[in-house]
Amino acid sequence: MTDTNMTGATDNTTASAGRDAQDHADIVQPVITTKDLSLTFQTNDGPVHALSGIDIDVNPGEFVSLIGPSGCGKTTLLRVIADLEQPTSGSIEVNGVSPDAARKARAYGYVFQAAALYPWRTIEKNVALPLEIMGLSHAEKKERIARNLELVNLTGFERKYPWQLSGGMQQRASIARALAFDPALLLMDEPFGALDEIVRDHLNDQLNKLWHKTSKTVVFVTHSIPEAVYLSTKIIVMSPRPGKIYDVIDCKLPRERTLEMRESKEFLDVALRVREGLRAGHSYDE
Ligand SMILES: Nc1ncnc2c1ncn2[C@@H]1O[C@H](COP(=O)(O)OP(=O)(O)OP(=O)(O)O)[C@@H](O)[C@H]1O
Ligand SMILES: [Mg+2]
Repeated sequence: MTDTNMTGATDNTTASAGRDAQDHADIVQPVITTKDLSLTFQTNDGPVHALSGIDIDVNPGEFVSLIGPSGCGKTTLLRVIADLEQPTSGSIEVNGVSPDAARKARAYGYVFQAAALYPWRTIEKNVALPLEIMGLSHAEKKERIARNLELVNLTGFERKYPWQLSGGMQQRASIARALAFDPALLLMDEPFGALDEIVRDHLNDQLNKLWHKTSKTVVFVTHSIPEAVYLSTKIIVMSPRPGKIYDVIDCKLPRERTLEMRESKEFLDVALRVREGLRAGHSYDE
Protein backbone atom coordinates (compact mmCIF):
# COMPACT_ATOMS: atom_id res chain seq x y z
CA MET A 1 0.00 0.00 0.00
CA THR A 2 2.73 2.36 1.07
CA ASP A 3 4.76 1.25 -1.93
CA THR A 4 1.86 1.89 -4.26
CA ASN A 5 1.40 5.36 -2.80
CA MET A 6 5.06 6.13 -3.09
CA THR A 7 5.14 4.83 -6.64
CA GLY A 8 2.08 6.93 -7.41
CA ALA A 9 3.71 10.00 -5.92
CA THR A 10 6.88 9.40 -7.86
CA ASP A 11 4.93 8.94 -11.08
CA ASN A 12 3.04 12.15 -10.47
CA THR A 13 6.25 14.05 -9.87
CA THR A 14 7.75 12.65 -13.04
CA ALA A 15 4.64 13.49 -15.01
CA SER A 16 4.54 17.02 -13.66
CA ALA A 17 8.26 17.55 -14.36
CA GLY A 18 7.56 16.38 -17.91
CA ARG A 19 4.70 18.83 -18.21
CA ASP A 20 6.85 21.67 -16.86
CA ALA A 21 9.49 20.92 -19.46
CA GLN A 22 6.78 20.83 -22.13
CA ASP A 23 5.29 24.14 -20.89
CA HIS A 24 8.75 25.62 -20.90
CA ALA A 25 9.32 24.49 -24.47
CA ASP A 26 6.02 26.12 -25.47
CA ILE A 27 6.96 29.53 -24.08
CA VAL A 28 7.69 31.69 -27.08
CA GLN A 29 10.29 34.37 -26.76
CA PRO A 30 8.71 37.61 -27.96
CA VAL A 31 10.46 39.34 -30.84
CA ILE A 32 9.81 42.70 -29.18
CA THR A 33 8.99 43.42 -25.55
CA THR A 34 8.66 46.86 -24.00
CA LYS A 35 7.97 47.54 -20.34
CA ASP A 36 6.70 50.91 -19.14
CA LEU A 37 8.64 52.56 -21.94
CA SER A 38 8.55 56.36 -22.13
CA LEU A 39 10.35 58.88 -24.31
CA THR A 40 10.40 62.64 -23.77
CA PHE A 41 12.06 64.92 -26.33
CA GLN A 42 13.65 68.02 -24.85
CA THR A 43 12.94 70.89 -27.24
CA ASN A 44 13.42 74.67 -27.12
CA ASP A 45 9.69 74.95 -26.43
CA GLY A 46 9.91 72.54 -23.48
CA PRO A 47 9.50 68.77 -23.16
CA VAL A 48 7.45 66.76 -25.68
CA HIS A 49 6.10 63.53 -24.19
CA ALA A 50 6.18 61.42 -27.33
CA LEU A 51 5.67 58.06 -25.58
CA SER A 52 4.39 57.21 -22.12
CA GLY A 53 4.03 53.86 -20.32
CA ILE A 54 4.19 51.69 -23.45
CA ASP A 55 3.87 47.94 -22.74
CA ILE A 56 3.85 45.74 -25.81
CA ASP A 57 4.72 42.17 -26.72
CA VAL A 58 5.18 41.21 -30.35
CA ASN A 59 5.43 37.44 -30.83
CA PRO A 60 7.14 35.61 -33.70
CA GLY A 61 5.02 35.59 -36.84
CA GLU A 62 2.64 38.29 -35.63
CA PHE A 63 1.60 41.21 -37.80
CA VAL A 64 1.11 44.16 -35.48
CA SER A 65 -0.23 47.50 -36.68
CA LEU A 66 0.18 50.80 -34.85
CA ILE A 67 -2.64 53.21 -35.64
CA GLY A 68 -3.42 56.61 -34.16
CA PRO A 69 -3.64 60.31 -34.96
CA SER A 70 -0.68 62.31 -36.23
CA GLY A 71 1.82 62.99 -33.47
CA CYS A 72 0.81 60.10 -31.17
CA GLY A 73 4.29 58.58 -31.31
CA LYS A 74 4.01 55.79 -33.90
CA THR A 75 7.22 56.69 -35.74
CA THR A 76 8.99 57.34 -32.44
CA LEU A 77 8.06 53.85 -31.18
CA LEU A 78 9.30 52.25 -34.41
CA ARG A 79 12.53 54.25 -34.16
CA VAL A 80 13.05 53.09 -30.56
CA ILE A 81 12.67 49.46 -31.71
CA ALA A 82 15.22 50.15 -34.48
CA ASP A 83 17.67 51.81 -32.05
CA LEU A 84 17.30 55.17 -33.80
CA GLU A 85 15.99 56.79 -30.58
CA GLN A 86 16.71 55.92 -26.94
CA PRO A 87 13.86 55.68 -24.42
CA THR A 88 13.91 58.10 -21.47
CA SER A 89 12.72 55.35 -19.09
CA GLY A 90 11.45 51.78 -19.12
CA SER A 91 12.93 48.88 -21.04
CA ILE A 92 12.88 47.28 -24.46
CA GLU A 93 14.26 44.06 -25.92
CA VAL A 94 14.40 42.98 -29.55
CA ASN A 95 15.02 39.23 -30.04
CA GLY A 96 15.88 39.09 -26.32
CA VAL A 97 18.71 41.62 -26.59
CA SER A 98 19.01 45.43 -26.60
CA PRO A 99 17.91 47.31 -29.76
CA ASP A 100 21.60 48.23 -30.20
CA ALA A 101 22.66 44.55 -30.26
CA ALA A 102 19.70 43.65 -32.53
CA ARG A 103 20.69 46.41 -34.95
CA LYS A 104 24.26 45.14 -35.06
CA ALA A 105 22.94 41.62 -35.74
CA ARG A 106 20.87 43.10 -38.62
CA ALA A 107 17.72 41.69 -37.08
CA TYR A 108 15.27 43.77 -39.11
CA GLY A 109 14.48 45.68 -42.27
CA TYR A 110 13.09 49.21 -41.97
CA VAL A 111 10.84 51.01 -44.43
CA PHE A 112 10.86 54.72 -43.61
CA GLN A 113 7.84 57.03 -43.75
CA ALA A 114 9.60 58.85 -46.63
CA ALA A 115 11.29 56.64 -49.21
CA ALA A 116 14.91 57.52 -48.18
CA LEU A 117 16.59 56.29 -51.36
CA TYR A 118 20.08 57.39 -52.37
CA PRO A 119 19.63 59.85 -55.27
CA TRP A 120 22.99 59.01 -56.84
CA ARG A 121 22.18 55.31 -57.12
CA THR A 122 19.82 53.73 -59.65
CA ILE A 123 16.80 51.81 -58.36
CA GLU A 124 18.56 48.45 -58.71
CA LYS A 125 21.66 49.80 -56.96
CA ASN A 126 19.47 51.10 -54.11
CA VAL A 127 17.83 47.68 -53.72
CA ALA A 128 21.28 46.06 -53.93
CA LEU A 129 22.57 48.14 -51.01
CA PRO A 130 21.73 45.77 -48.11
CA LEU A 131 22.86 42.82 -50.25
CA GLU A 132 26.31 44.24 -50.85
CA ILE A 133 27.28 43.79 -47.20
CA MET A 134 25.92 40.22 -47.10
CA GLY A 135 28.57 38.77 -49.41
CA LEU A 136 26.06 37.15 -51.79
CA SER A 137 27.10 35.86 -55.19
CA HIS A 138 26.45 38.09 -58.19
CA ALA A 139 23.77 35.69 -59.46
CA GLU A 140 21.98 35.60 -56.08
CA LYS A 141 22.04 39.41 -55.84
CA LYS A 142 20.62 39.74 -59.35
CA GLU A 143 17.88 37.23 -58.61
CA ARG A 144 16.84 38.95 -55.37
CA ILE A 145 16.78 42.39 -56.98
CA ALA A 146 14.63 41.14 -59.86
CA ARG A 147 12.26 39.20 -57.59
CA ASN A 148 11.68 42.06 -55.16
CA LEU A 149 11.30 44.73 -57.85
CA GLU A 150 8.74 42.50 -59.53
CA LEU A 151 6.89 42.10 -56.22
CA VAL A 152 6.35 45.86 -56.04
CA ASN A 153 5.64 46.22 -59.80
CA LEU A 154 8.86 48.04 -60.66
CA THR A 155 10.25 45.66 -63.26
CA GLY A 156 11.63 47.81 -66.08
CA PHE A 157 12.71 50.67 -63.80
CA GLU A 158 16.01 49.10 -62.65
CA ARG A 159 18.23 51.69 -64.35
CA LYS A 160 16.21 54.79 -63.38
CA TYR A 161 17.27 57.16 -60.63
CA PRO A 162 14.87 57.84 -57.73
CA TRP A 163 14.19 61.40 -58.94
CA GLN A 164 12.91 59.97 -62.23
CA LEU A 165 10.15 58.08 -60.36
CA SER A 166 6.91 59.26 -58.74
CA GLY A 167 6.71 59.41 -54.93
CA GLY A 168 4.68 56.19 -54.81
CA MET A 169 7.18 54.38 -57.02
CA GLN A 170 10.05 55.55 -54.82
CA GLN A 171 8.20 54.20 -51.81
CA ARG A 172 7.74 50.85 -53.54
CA ALA A 173 11.47 50.77 -54.35
CA SER A 174 12.25 51.31 -50.68
CA ILE A 175 9.94 48.40 -49.78
CA ALA A 176 11.80 46.20 -52.29
CA ARG A 177 15.07 47.24 -50.64
CA ALA A 178 13.82 46.32 -47.13
CA LEU A 179 12.56 42.94 -48.37
CA ALA A 180 15.67 42.14 -50.41
CA PHE A 181 17.83 40.90 -47.54
CA ASP A 182 14.96 38.80 -46.20
CA PRO A 183 14.85 39.96 -42.58
CA ALA A 184 12.77 37.98 -40.05
CA LEU A 185 11.46 41.27 -38.62
CA LEU A 186 10.10 44.07 -40.79
CA LEU A 187 9.46 47.55 -39.40
CA MET A 188 7.29 49.55 -41.80
CA ASP A 189 6.32 53.19 -41.26
CA GLU A 190 3.27 54.04 -43.40
CA PRO A 191 4.81 52.35 -46.44
CA PHE A 192 1.66 52.68 -48.53
CA GLY A 193 0.49 56.08 -47.29
CA ALA A 194 1.31 57.93 -50.52
CA LEU A 195 -0.14 55.37 -52.92
CA ASP A 196 -3.44 55.36 -54.78
CA GLU A 197 -6.18 52.97 -53.66
CA ILE A 198 -5.66 50.32 -56.37
CA VAL A 199 -1.88 50.07 -55.96
CA ARG A 200 -2.36 50.03 -52.22
CA ASP A 201 -4.84 47.13 -52.43
CA HIS A 202 -2.38 45.24 -54.59
CA LEU A 203 0.52 45.81 -52.20
CA ASN A 204 -1.64 44.95 -49.17
CA ASP A 205 -2.43 41.68 -50.90
CA GLN A 206 1.25 41.03 -51.75
CA LEU A 207 2.35 41.87 -48.22
CA ASN A 208 -0.27 39.54 -46.71
CA LYS A 209 0.92 36.71 -49.00
CA LEU A 210 4.56 37.38 -48.22
CA TRP A 211 3.88 37.44 -44.50
CA HIS A 212 1.86 34.25 -44.27
CA LYS A 213 4.23 32.38 -46.59
CA THR A 214 7.43 33.41 -44.82
CA SER A 215 6.05 33.85 -41.26
CA LYS A 216 7.96 37.08 -40.85
CA THR A 217 7.15 39.31 -37.91
CA VAL A 218 5.92 42.73 -38.96
CA VAL A 219 5.34 45.99 -37.09
CA PHE A 220 3.42 48.29 -39.39
CA VAL A 221 2.35 51.91 -38.97
CA THR A 222 -0.76 53.09 -40.79
CA HIS A 223 -3.52 55.69 -40.71
CA SER A 224 -5.91 53.42 -42.58
CA ILE A 225 -8.40 51.33 -40.59
CA PRO A 226 -9.17 48.87 -43.46
CA GLU A 227 -5.45 48.41 -44.10
CA ALA A 228 -4.77 47.71 -40.41
CA VAL A 229 -7.61 45.17 -40.16
CA TYR A 230 -6.74 43.52 -43.48
CA LEU A 231 -3.10 42.93 -42.57
CA SER A 232 -2.92 42.48 -38.80
CA THR A 233 -3.15 39.82 -36.16
CA LYS A 234 -3.05 42.58 -33.54
CA ILE A 235 -3.90 46.27 -33.78
CA ILE A 236 -2.51 48.75 -31.25
CA VAL A 237 -4.59 51.91 -31.11
CA MET A 238 -2.60 54.88 -29.80
CA SER A 239 -3.68 58.28 -28.50
CA PRO A 240 -1.62 61.49 -28.37
CA ARG A 241 -0.15 63.89 -25.78
CA PRO A 242 1.42 61.90 -24.30
CA GLY A 243 1.62 59.04 -26.82
CA LYS A 244 -0.10 56.08 -25.13
CA ILE A 245 -1.69 52.77 -25.95
CA TYR A 246 -5.46 53.20 -25.89
CA ASP A 247 -6.56 49.72 -26.98
CA VAL A 248 -5.07 46.42 -28.19
CA ILE A 249 -7.35 44.49 -30.54
CA ASP A 250 -6.86 40.90 -31.71
CA CYS A 251 -7.82 40.31 -35.31
CA LYS A 252 -8.68 36.64 -35.69
CA LEU A 253 -9.30 36.47 -39.43
CA PRO A 254 -7.47 33.58 -41.16
CA ARG A 255 -3.81 34.37 -41.86
CA GLU A 256 -4.31 34.21 -45.60
CA ARG A 257 -6.68 37.02 -46.49
CA THR A 258 -8.61 38.10 -49.53
CA LEU A 259 -9.81 41.60 -50.35
CA GLU A 260 -13.39 40.24 -50.29
CA MET A 261 -12.99 39.54 -46.56
CA ARG A 262 -13.29 43.27 -46.05
CA GLU A 263 -17.07 42.83 -46.38
CA SER A 264 -17.31 40.12 -43.68
CA LYS A 265 -18.88 40.67 -40.26
CA GLU A 266 -15.64 39.77 -38.41
CA PHE A 267 -13.75 42.36 -40.44
CA LEU A 268 -16.33 45.07 -39.91
CA ASP A 269 -16.57 44.34 -36.16
CA VAL A 270 -12.81 44.78 -35.71
CA ALA A 271 -12.86 47.93 -37.90
CA LEU A 272 -15.64 49.39 -35.74
CA ARG A 273 -13.69 48.79 -32.54
CA VAL A 274 -10.59 50.44 -34.03
CA ARG A 275 -12.69 53.41 -35.13
CA GLU A 276 -14.23 53.75 -31.65
CA GLY A 277 -10.76 53.65 -30.09
CA LEU A 278 -9.48 56.32 -32.46
CA ARG A 279 -12.48 58.52 -31.79
CA ALA A 280 -12.21 58.15 -28.01
CA GLY A 281 -8.45 58.80 -27.99
CA HIS A 282 -8.60 61.73 -30.39
CA SER A 283 -8.64 65.28 -29.18
CA TYR A 284 -10.37 67.70 -31.54
CA ASP A 285 -9.32 70.84 -29.70
CA GLU A 286 -5.99 71.28 -31.51
N1 LIG B 1 13.38 64.55 -32.94
C1 LIG B 1 12.34 65.11 -32.34
N2 LIG B 1 12.49 66.18 -31.52
C2 LIG B 1 11.44 66.73 -30.88
N3 LIG B 1 10.18 66.27 -30.97
C3 LIG B 1 9.96 65.22 -31.76
C4 LIG B 1 11.01 64.58 -32.48
N4 LIG B 1 10.49 63.55 -33.19
C5 LIG B 1 9.17 63.55 -32.91
N5 LIG B 1 8.84 64.55 -32.06
C6 LIG B 1 7.52 64.81 -31.49
O1 LIG B 1 7.05 63.62 -30.87
C7 LIG B 1 5.67 63.43 -31.11
C8 LIG B 1 5.47 62.10 -31.79
O2 LIG B 1 6.01 62.18 -33.11
P1 LIG B 1 5.95 60.96 -34.13
O3 LIG B 1 6.69 61.36 -35.34
O4 LIG B 1 6.34 59.72 -33.43
O5 LIG B 1 4.37 60.90 -34.45
P2 LIG B 1 3.57 59.96 -35.46
O6 LIG B 1 2.53 59.25 -34.65
O7 LIG B 1 4.50 59.14 -36.24
O8 LIG B 1 2.84 61.04 -36.40
P3 LIG B 1 2.48 60.98 -37.98
O9 LIG B 1 1.25 60.12 -38.07
O10 LIG B 1 2.20 62.39 -38.34
O11 LIG B 1 3.65 60.42 -38.70
C9 LIG B 1 5.20 64.64 -31.93
O12 LIG B 1 4.66 65.59 -31.03
C10 LIG B 1 6.48 65.15 -32.56
O13 LIG B 1 6.42 66.53 -32.77
MG1 LIG C 1 5.04 59.05 -38.26
